[in-house]
Amino acid sequence: MDLSQRPRRLRVNPAMRALVAEHAVRVQNLIEPLFVVPGSGVREEIASMPSVCRLSVDQLAEDAKKIAALGIPAILLFGIPPEKDDAASWLARDDGPVQRAIAAVKQAVPEMLVVTDLCACEYTSHGHCGVVRKDGTIDNDRTVDLLVSGALSYARCGADIIAPSDMMDGRVGAIRAALDAKDFIDTAIMSYAAKYASAFYGPFRHAAGSTPAFGDRRTHQMDPPNAREAVKEARLDAAEGADIIMVKPALAYLDIVRAVREAVDLPIAVFNVSGEYAMLKAAAREGWIDEERAVDEMLVSCKRAGADIIITYFARSYAARLAKR
Ligand code: PBG
Ligand code: ZN
Repeated sequence: MDLSQRPRRLRVNPAMRALVAEHAVRVQNLIEPLFVVPGSGVREEIASMPSVCRLSVDQLAEDAKKIAALGIPAILLFGIPPEKDDAASWLARDDGPVQRAIAAVKQAVPEMLVVTDLCACEYTSHGHCGVVRKDGTIDNDRTVDLLVSGALSYARCGADIIAPSDMMDGRVGAIRAALDAKDFIDTAIMSYAAKYASAFYGPFRHAAGSTPAFGDRRTHQMDPPNAREAVKEARLDAAEGADIIMVKPALAYLDIVRAVREAVDLPIAVFNVSGEYAMLKAAAREGWIDEERAVDEMLVSCKRAGADIIITYFARSYAARLAKR
């Protein structure tokens, strides 16, 4: 037995373990996703996502105050419009739920960074992420035009960061050019650059009523077996002017986070998605898993993989727990 090396020496007690910890999750790097719906006084829990609610603008502003008080610097808004149609008419309306929420949050908590998810699927009656042709396929270039109009609307209403989540080709460059042309030079773009066609979005689609009525998202979202392609997507979005590159989902894609981290110099965000949240919540509810320890592990694994920013439905509960430590 060779015991000249005893790695356990650095694990003997909590102080020693803390001293040598290589990574930590800071509340300042978390983003909390929120769902905004029409109406007022609305706060309905999403069945598949315990403690996550669909909120009307007034309620969302209240939550934003609490989120800020926990030290979380940013929220990511998803909108559910009063009506869905083929043209995603509500996407670019300055009186849409997301647009009104931006203003309400800025008034309630001026320092809160507001990130707006930008995609058509919450706004279309067919649930697809863009303009659908007669043959059922998605028209990339017309979809980009639609996204540009949505981005301009969010920017006009005061969004700090626009986050296109559609995976159309060329949309980051088009959005950047349109923002610059209207002098929104400080409005940042966080691109969902490597977003996979994943089963882990199930609860989200439930929450947003955005399950495609026919077909799926495999012609635009990435194919799970591919890693090199993620690096290509990330580099393209960086070249088109993205400020932050996102990988999504998180847990089954931490190798992608690492690969993208090494390929581009921009901050990397990772999205710990609805299915990852639901899975853990369900197991914890059954008493099969210790939620707090599992969350700690999940979040630090994102950091270890190289993510700077973590978007997670656990942001609030995690921050509340850190504050008590
Ligand atoms: C919109 C969008 C989705 C998510 C973020 N933006 C759903 C999808 O692509 O079907 C998923 C978020 C989550 O699952 O938490 N395109
Ligand atoms: Zn979409």
